[in-house]
Amino acid sequence: MLPVLFSPLQGYTEYMYRRIHHDVVGGVDAYYAPFVRWEKGTLRNKDRRDVMRENNQSLPLVPQVIAGNVDELACLCDILQNEGYEEINLNMGCPAPMQMKRHRGSALLTDADGLAALAKEMERRPDVKFSVKMRLGVDSAEDWRIILPILNAMTLTRVIMHPRTASQQYAGDVDMNMFGSFCDQCVHPVVYNGDIMSPADIASLEKRFPQLQGVMVGRGLLARPSMGAEYKSGEAWPEAARLDVFRRLHEQMLAFNRNKFPNDSQLLVQMHVFWEYQKANLAKKQYKKVMKSGSLRNYLSAVDDIFSV
Ligand SMILES: Cc1cc2nc3c(=O)[nH]c(=O)nc-3n(C[C@H](O)[C@H](O)[C@H](O)COP(=O)(O)O)c2cc1C
Repeated sequence: MLPVLFSPLQGYTEYMYRRIHHDVVGGVDAYYAPFVRWEKGTLRNKDRRDVMRENNQSLPLVPQVIAGNVDELACLCDILQNEGYEEINLNMGCPAPMQMKRHRGSALLTDADGLAALAKEMERRPDVKFSVKMRLGVDSAEDWRIILPILNAMTLTRVIMHPRTASQQYAGDVDMNMFGSFCDQCVHPVVYNGDIMSPADIASLEKRFPQLQGVMVGRGLLARPSMGAEYKSGEAWPEAARLDVFRRLHEQMLAFNRNKFPNDSQLLVQMHVFWEYQKANLAKKQYKKVMKSGSLRNYLSAVDDIFSV
């Protein structure tokens, strides 16, 4: 059975979602937090709150940093080490131009010198287990070959590979053949990430790549929060059981957001985010009714229709 890791998704998997997911259904071996970054000499409050231990109690959490130079990496690691984290993940996959312009995220895939400098800073911190989350390349799916010697010389607990290029963003085909070549040449434990939508998808990856050391799932887990638990239980769950998990998740998210956003329109914005990845699971009409609800009353009625079947 492969470890299942929850992908970081900025705007979706912040601490309250992670905590509720863990309490309601779990089936996930570790939650990776969306990246924190060094801005104007500090960590934004929102980022700090998200990785503070007191907001992540009893959660198997790996924080992620995005950094384009040694100073940024050192400041972020100091903060996270002070919080007591044993593993820190380095983002080498973010395709956002704003981040890449600052030599961060995917920009590291073609910047051997930049990565070598960060690797040196990591070596100075033997108490931390580092892992990286990366893509195949920036414009070419062969870019990883540029940095492979540096990557292989680093001490890493795992390399999470999303086999797309940065130019593809999150769409287009994943390159499974290139993923296979990467696995053959990477000396670290490799975790696969990308487009996993069901427990059966995990099982078929396990079969195709026996050397795999885990899978990381993002949008698929938002769409089907019980996926990890289903995979671990050895079988796909019936529709009703999956819906029940989603109903309980919704109940707790709604309670949390009601408290945080007393204003109905702000509350609705937050709750719509929660439903975004349900589009494929719902009839067009049901989805539209939730997303275009306009008032809390309409929203609750739309949600009730879905859960009362
Ligand atoms: C809205 C959004 C936000 C994301 N935020 C992050 C992030 O903070 N750090 C990161 O490493 N990846 C981030 N990703 C990428 C995902 O973690 C994941 O690698 C990608 O969605 C592919 O996996 P999936 O098909 O299982 O979702 C984000 C993706 C999306 C769509």
